[in-house]
Amino acid sequence: MRKTITLIAFIFLFAQCKVKTIETTETNKNTGLIADSAMVVSAREEASKIGVAIMKKGGNAFDAMIATELALAVAYPFAGNIGGGGFMVYRTNDGKTGALDYREKAPLAASKNMYLDENGDIIQGKSLFGAMAVGVPGTVDGLFKVYEKFGSLPFSELIQPAIDLANKGVVVTEKQAERIAESRHFFGEVNGTKIMLDNDWKEGDTIKYVMLAKTLERIRDLGRDGFYKGETAEMLVNYVQKLGGIITKKDLEIYEAKWRTPIEFTYKDLKIISMSPPSSGGICNAQIFKAIEPFDIASYGHNSLKSIQLLTEAERRAYADRSFYLGDPDFVKIPIDTLISSKYVKNRMASFSWEKATLSSTLQHGKITGYESDETTHYSIVDKYGNSISATTTLNGAYGSKVFVSEGGFFLNNEMDDFSSKTGTPNMFGLVGAEANSIAPEKRMLSSMTPTIVEKNNRFYMSVGSPGGSTIITSVMQTILNVYEFKMGMQDAVNAPRFHHQWLPDVVTFEPKGFDSLLLNQLQGKGYQIKQENSVILGKVDAILRLPNGKLEGGADYRGDDKAAGF
Ligand code: GLY
Repeated sequence: MRKTITLIAFIFLFAQCKVKTIETTETNKNTGLIADSAMVVSAREEASKIGVAIMKKGGNAFDAMIATELALAVAYPFAGNIGGGGFMVYRTNDGKTGALDYREKAPLAASKNMYLDENGDIIQGKSLFGAMAVGVPGTVDGLFKVYEKFGSLPFSELIQPAIDLANKGVVVTEKQAERIAESRHFFGEVNGTKIMLDNDWKEGDTIKYVMLAKTLERIRDLGRDGFYKGETAEMLVNYVQKLGGIITKKDLEIYEAKWRTPIEFTYKDLKIISMSPPSSGGICNAQIFKAIEPFDIASYGHNSLKSIQLLTEAERRAYADRSFYLGDPDFVKIPIDTLISSKYVKNRMASFSWEKATLSSTLQHGKITGYESDETTHYSIVDKYGNSISATTTLNGAYGSKVFVSEGGFFLNNEMDDFSSKTGTPNMFGLVGAEANSIAPEKRMLSSMTPTIVEKNNRFYMSVGSPGGSTIITSVMQTILNVYEFKMGMQDAVNAPRFHHQWLPDVVTFEPKGFDSLLLNQLQGKGYQIKQENSVILGKVDAILRLPNGKLEGGADYRGDDKAAGF
């Protein structure tokens, strides 16, 4: 059974990331797309181009965000969605920053032990597959929140390209054909009937998303009610309940995306603006950056023994804290200021030794006295006015719960698995959690999504983010370091091989290529458990860098079908 679950977790986590080899190392010099003033980098060329077309028409980055996100819901059903949720971090041209939380919520009828059997054991797969795994979707409400605050073009103009794309159809890529093939048996099992993607789709075929186009038309014509009320809500609720789920019309009606204050911290002369809880991304990365700040990591060299040791130990401590302290800030009190303070982090690093790995079994979360008052996809946008956006959106697993509302043409998430169903028992990303991330009605599950914007000298410097569940945080962090400390361009920084550690399991995972065996042997000699054989790619970073001449360089991850577009 254990083996089956591990296999399932593997499929969920990495199906999206499957590549045959990783050929590129940091010594390859690849320059991404260069644009004068505006750019979108996303998981599909169609979506990037749609976002750019909106900006060419005079729309701003927020208009482009809405158009790009909706286009991804069509062109990238693997993770792009209207049946999931996400986070967005922004920086406007006058330096104002903010964050939007459109994360899914637990349904009103959810309860703490809903994934446990009568013996208190996890019911395998219940939080992952099928209707019980579905959280109340937040994407559509999130887009309307963005529109109300920042939209400049008529909403109908922002959604129409996605509707047209859905009706015209999207060409299947090689990677997409592989992903569909890997998920087909799950589609049948979960839905009990053949859904439109459950076909022998081949590279070069065109898939039309006609029912999804109709749903998008309802959203165009009725606004948020086109999804959360009326026909679409009826379809969604009826189907989820038919499959044994607990989402009601009331759940949809009361869903609300929330504006949040992002986590902001400095690293040397950078200001890093990242997602706040219910994402763990900003806090974890603040801790990691603070932990490594006193060290001259650039002098150690990129992916050298010393850099890997330092980063792994910083990651170990940050993820241990994540599992204990972090959850939905509307439900749990999180000691954010302490957790990201240099003093606290320095203390946490006191046990770090260059000689020997700290064993995760000997390390718990840090002690704080007195509280002060992941399938996923990412896109980055910069407009010609100087506004920047970093947004990550998710269904959690590949095609989410696999529940496909055929009448509406969309998949529903399995975000409920991001809760800690049982203290100490890992979720599909191997992450363990505690009370702070336990299930409660209307609570948001903890996330690792890390949409991030970096400022240098008070100017926009970088927009970066990634899918990849628990590996998102470390992929984002390494990409920033690759540019800032290891002097890579944006595309090289994205291409560079990555590694990851998350406290538990006590293993450092390396991408399949790009790390030599001598280095890995040295790490093993110091007590690090290494995973590289049968390893997978880590993250799929899409990012934009402002170059010294003011132009933009896109970094579109070759690990997927990702593409930059700009002008
Ligand atoms: N579903 C992946 C995450 O939010 O971290």
